[in-house]
Amino acid sequence: MGEVPAQSDAQEGGRDPNRARHVAIIMDGNGRWAKKRGLPRSVGHQRGVEAVRRLVRGLEPMGLDCLTLYAFSSENWKRSEDEVDDLMNLMRRFIKSDLPDFVANDVKLKIIGDWQALAPDIVEMLEDALAQTANGSKRLAVALNYGSQNEIARAAAKAAESGTIDTESITRYLDTYDLPPLDLIIRTSGEIRLSNFLLWQAAYAEMLFVDTLWPDFKPEHLAQALDDFARRERRYGGR
Ligand code: FPP
Repeated sequence: MGEVPAQSDAQEGGRDPNRARHVAIIMDGNGRWAKKRGLPRSVGHQRGVEAVRRLVRGLEPMGLDCLTLYAFSSENWKRSEDEVDDLMNLMRRFIKSDLPDFVANDVKLKIIGDWQALAPDIVEMLEDALAQTANGSKRLAVALNYGSQNEIARAAAKAAESGTIDTESITRYLDTYDLPPLDLIIRTSGEIRLSNFLLWQAAYAEMLFVDTLWPDFKPEHLAQALDDFARRERRYGGR
């Protein structure tokens, strides 16, 4: 028998193939949202955080097992120091203000990416948030200082150390090892690319590119995306 393809568990029986379990979102368009209104980019990011909050609060009826959000890529460090500072401060404020909500709403937080390399106070806040939400059942994964090629390289190195380099072992060492197979990637703002996000996990994922700028994204948009997903036929390379 040949190698088992990555994400093969997505094809197994026992689950409704029309229902998305794991959706990931590339939240794009904060800057353009602000520019259109003559506002500073920082306001676009603030509104972006509000869109995140709204979405997490509206998740319950969607029936997802996991939502993964691309909040800060390893390439985002190339932005101006002011903008990076803004994003880090928003993160600090968001964790502080929304952690009680996560705990109350049974959210189980997960961070993917090289998040341990963030500022020590943020790492400490994240560790606390992970501990406080450890018993939750609804997975919210946030990609922080995340780059997919780096994640794959790290996983491949660990697989090599284990003595077996195949798709299964690499999958096992990815940051997402304990998340359900990825069903759908959504990118907002009309850009059509993956920007180093979940490249391995996207092998058989569906993709949806919407024109909505991230600060305008509402739970209704996600519900619509899930409807769209439910109508797609997934063949995983078969007929
Ligand atoms: C893209 O907008 C968005 C980001 C760089 C990061 C996404 C961040 C947030 C939604 C806020 C932070 C989130 C949390 C959870 C604290 P862009 O600036 O690239 O927009 P543009 O392409 O229109 O300039």
